[in-house]
Amino acid sequence: MLTSQMAKSQISCWDKGAFAAMKKKKLLLVGLVCAVAAVFAVGVRGAAAEEVRRLAELMGWKAGIFVADIGAGDGEYTFAAVERVGAAGKVYATEIDAKKIEALKSEVAKRKVANVTVVESKEADTNLPAGCCDAIFLRRVYHHLTKPAEFDANIVRSLKPGGRLAIIDFPARAGLDPVEGVPGNRGGHGIPQKIVIEELSAAGLQVEKIVEDWPEDSYCVLFVKR
Ligand SMILES: C[S@@+](CC[C@H](N)C(=O)[O-])C[C@H]1O[C@@H](n2cnc3c(N)ncnc32)[C@H](O)[C@@H]1O
Repeated sequence: MLTSQMAKSQISCWDKGAFAAMKKKKLLLVGLVCAVAAVFAVGVRGAAAEEVRRLAELMGWKAGIFVADIGAGDGEYTFAAVERVGAAGKVYATEIDAKKIEALKSEVAKRKVANVTVVESKEADTNLPAGCCDAIFLRRVYHHLTKPAEFDANIVRSLKPGGRLAIIDFPARAGLDPVEGVPGNRGGHGIPQKIVIEELSAAGLQVEKIVEDWPEDSYCVLFVKR
């Protein structure tokens, strides 16, 4: 009897101990997941901020300038850019995708940033005002353009004299689906740097600098409008 009671109490002790250990493990796991998520979120924001810091340095941004982020996606780079141009500056975030436009608009409203304007882009037209921008950048967007000649003419029209354009892109990568509707000379999902330079030079811009070691195996070509 005593032995069985002792055994029971030992089991219940073990149960309690095991339960406490399991609870501790669960808490540790939850903590770990939260920590990883937090690090990832900060890391992603940090990566965008770091790329924008490099862009700002490369393009000579200063407080008060007007910038356009063409093909802004979820706006990560737009919101990093707006922090750098300050309250006197402005960032246009353009998109062709209707859902992304709506999401960008609600993000702008949520963040209460008065100096971000969301613009609906078209295949052949940025829909940006003429002479609106000191700096325009396209991050991983150029290889998606289906009417690059017309689109480029619009970009040039929107740059102020002396304004700069940065194209961040990458040569075609294996394993990515081809982009529908783009000219056949891209060689897959991506675009050779040489073609970017040929097309934007034909549109009237001059190459100012080429950065080969852009993050994530990308390049950055900087153009200027003389
Ligand atoms: C790979 S994502 C890059 C998004 C963002 N720039 C980034 O770096 O996170 C390409 C984006 O370009 C947009 N896009 C494609 N063609 C466009 C066009 N003609 N005008 C504006 N945006 C376009 C797509 O809808 C998509 O959001």
